[in-house]
Amino acid sequence: MELTPHLVPLARLVGTWAGEGTGGYPTISPFTYHEEITFAFVGKPFLGYTQRTRGADGSPLHQETGYLRHTGDGHLEFVLALPTGQVELAEGVLRTTEDGLALELEARVWSTSTAKEVSATRRTYRISGDTLETVLDMAAVGQPMARHLESHLVRTA
Ligand code: HEM
Repeated sequence: MELTPHLVPLARLVGTWAGEGTGGYPTISPFTYHEEITFAFVGKPFLGYTQRTRGADGSPLHQETGYLRHTGDGHLEFVLALPTGQVELAEGVLRTTEDGLALELEARVWSTSTAKEVSATRRTYRISGDTLETVLDMAAVGQPMARHLESHLVRTA
């Protein structure tokens, strides 16, 4: 299936990526996780996104799902739903780098009444060759913006 024109610059992102990550935050103990993410083209002008993670012992950790759009001029919009009661409305830029792509997004975050308070996130996805590096910083639970997650993934499909 041929990508719609605005998705062509994102072609290298389409597929499934898996690998290991590390997490932390000023309020919690550091942890490691296994992550698998998929950006899928379904024939419409967006990419569907799913993410699943597991802890070092194989037990399920965080997962999330969303939709990524590119308006054609390097502007990105990424909406995400989290099972912990937050939604992220992220916008940012797509840049081509020497050997790949970089997506840099900042999100406003809404939390349900019983969810942990998260006010903002910054996400980056950097592709070089068949490697995808992800980073997530967040402002949450009264803390200023700080690193929560970093992962190093390789293309599996
Ligand atoms: C790879 C995806 C993620 C993994 C593996 C992960 C894992 C964890 C773990 C293990 C904790 C500590 C235990 C706990 O409170 O449950 C935690 C806490 C937390 N995470 Fe994540 N998380 C992920 C993504 C996210 C995202 C996308 C957000 C926000 C948009 C987020 C927000 C939080 C918050 C607010 C806390 C609580 C901090 C506190 O209570 O001090 N997490 N996460």
